[in-house]
Amino acid sequence: MKLKRWLAASAVVLATAAVAGTPATASHPVDPAQQSLRTLGLRHDLYIGTAVDMAALADTADPLYRATVSKEFSTVTAENVMKWESLEPTRGTYNWGPADELIAFAKRNNQRVRGHVLVWQNQLPAWLTTGVNDGTISTTELRDILRNHIATVVKHFKGKIWQWDVVNEAVSDPWDTPSTLHYKGFWAEHLGPGYIADAFRWARAADPNALLFYNDYNIEAFGSGNPADDKTQFVFDMAKALLRDRVPIDGIGSQGHLGTQYGNYDTLQVAAALKRFAGLGLATAFTEVDVRSQMTAGVLAGDSNEINPRLQASAGNYSVLLRACLADRHCLSFTVWGFTDKHSWVPTWFTDPPEGLATIYDENYQPKRAYQEMKADLIYSGPPYVLPRVPQKPRR
Ligand code: G3I
Repeated sequence: MKLKRWLAASAVVLATAAVAGTPATASHPVDPAQQSLRTLGLRHDLYIGTAVDMAALADTADPLYRATVSKEFSTVTAENVMKWESLEPTRGTYNWGPADELIAFAKRNNQRVRGHVLVWQNQLPAWLTTGVNDGTISTTELRDILRNHIATVVKHFKGKIWQWDVVNEAVSDPWDTPSTLHYKGFWAEHLGPGYIADAFRWARAADPNALLFYNDYNIEAFGSGNPADDKTQFVFDMAKALLRDRVPIDGIGSQGHLGTQYGNYDTLQVAAALKRFAGLGLATAFTEVDVRSQMTAGVLAGDSNEINPRLQASAGNYSVLLRACLADRHCLSFTVWGFTDKHSWVPTWFTDPPEGLATIYDENYQPKRAYQEMKADLIYSGPPYVLPRVPQKPRR
């Protein structure tokens, strides 16, 4: 049965290619290397996604951005326009326009949408943070505001969102103070960690069918196994406790922001982590993958001795995450956080030392080695170790 589904998916790929103008015959089979990431991903029921910068999508002087989003990806995430400061810049006044545009674009292009993000300590509107800090918003009122925000946003997009990042980056890092891992940030400080369970319950009440995710970075693989310093273990324990308390969490989003200057992981370590989360009954997804490099003087001067190893290491790390995802049937999607170096958060964020080269296309929309390796991973994988995804049922 499983093999039958896989063969059926392959037949869909052939049929899609034929529709796209490349008729496959026995003597002229379709060249899979010419197919898009989205077509190749669907061989495995795996959705390949990108974060979308709405300004770039709207820029008529930059048509390749829009064309590439629709051609290569089967799921999209709003890079910024579904965040609280964008949706409700003034208290009680919602600005749905840009997010609705993305939803409409996705519909036209037969793409699924990841909703990002309902509860996060960053990109909150000033009226909210100022009100809490000057005492005009009490703790009780803050909780009501959060519940209302989740209900309003999830209801607005009801039926249009495949996966919601309900809570984002709630756990500290070893370099924070104190170094023992803990719940960090605005919401934990003002409401205590119970806001996490509340947020999932409120989101479920507003949309019975969206998959509800916890999303974080630096959780690609397990470390020491001690939740005091192993963030993946901390998140695993959190998810287990939420499930024990019958909180409707459906998945764990592993962001996948890596850098070539770090040790990183091998495929087996990452696959093992995904399998452990699947063992709890959760889906997984890579939600924000990019692999940045330090822009040394040599890189900036165009020295190939410095550029080549970085591009190759970046490609290798994309491949590690994608192969691990392919290896687990509960890993439902693989989203890159921007696909071209022309529009990437990395150079504006990491300036000392400067970092860049993080995406799968260069600034001129030329595919990089990372793009080709992703394709190869999607092409040269299949039974018995890579099988179609298992759809996740929303937990009620
Ligand atoms: O909206 C203003 C605009 O009005 C102004 O003209 C412009 C001038 O700088 O700034 C605009 O805001 C910027 C916003 O992106 C929209 O472009 C902010 O300064 C900038 O800080 C913000 O950065 C975003 C960052 O989240 C903020 O936390 C990045 O684009 C976005 O890629 C990044 O995404 C996060 C995920 O949501 C969560 N995981 C980590 C990931 C990377 O940091």
